[in-house]
Amino acid sequence: MYHKLMGCLASVREKTEFKPEAAVILGSGLGEFANEIRIADTISYEDIKGFPVSTVKGHAGRFVFGYVEETPVVIMQGRVHYYEGYPMSDVVLPTRLMGMMGAKKLLLTNAAGGCNPEFKPGDLMIISDHITTAVPSPLIGPNIDELGTRFPDMSEVYSRRLQEVIGACAKECGIKVQKGVYVQFTGPNYETPAEIGLARSWGADAVGMSTAVEAMAARHMGMEVCGISCITNMAAGISDVQLDHKEVQETADKVAKDFKKLVAEVIIHM
Ligand code: HPA
Repeated sequence: MYHKLMGCLASVREKTEFKPEAAVILGSGLGEFANEIRIADTISYEDIKGFPVSTVKGHAGRFVFGYVEETPVVIMQGRVHYYEGYPMSDVVLPTRLMGMMGAKKLLLTNAAGGCNPEFKPGDLMIISDHITTAVPSPLIGPNIDELGTRFPDMSEVYSRRLQEVIGACAKECGIKVQKGVYVQFTGPNYETPAEIGLARSWGADAVGMSTAVEAMAARHMGMEVCGISCITNMAAGISDVQLDHKEVQETADKVAKDFKKLVAEVIIHM
């Protein structure tokens, strides 16, 4: 795996010498954000040898390198999901690659279902912690000693400092934010009401199909991590409405303006 990562890094370095300070992964509905920064370079995933290319419609699939004010960032416009059929080590390859490009901090974003009944669709949630019990660890397999230790600590995956930064930025922008625990399921199906009941009993506030494993891989290699979920729908059984991807996209699009504003502010201050 380390060999593969080094191959991808060499492939990137043939195209750009850009050194990001921060890395950002854009979730559903947020993709446009990458087009609005001061772009220095872009690389399509398919031009990186060995890189897992996303199959989800509407995910552009490229790294965008550029500046948000003075901060050099690399942005993933389109991520890789476990449900597409890749091994978990490939799912987190792009995250690790951004770390190897030089990014010390990582901002994760996603669309998620709300399983906290006090949330409503359109809410933004600062991720305070996560549960990955329902998905394989991305760290299974021979440890990559070059990146981190075999048994990494996960007691503060989402940096308390960065959670405060997000809170302060939201206040500054006049955007209300929730805070809570994110649980990752494999997808691609939405969960059953019984599974959401289980997630609730575990202490989860939001449920999704990405993000937590990326956060874990980033922490393994010592990056400082934070995350924001857009609650696009109430999770199965929390409200009566049936779930469909269209509702998720529509809510994500409605909130996109605020979400983009918050993401820009966080990048500047992280
Ligand atoms: N469940 C899982 N993933 C999701 C959901 C959901 O309800 N909404 C958006 N992503």
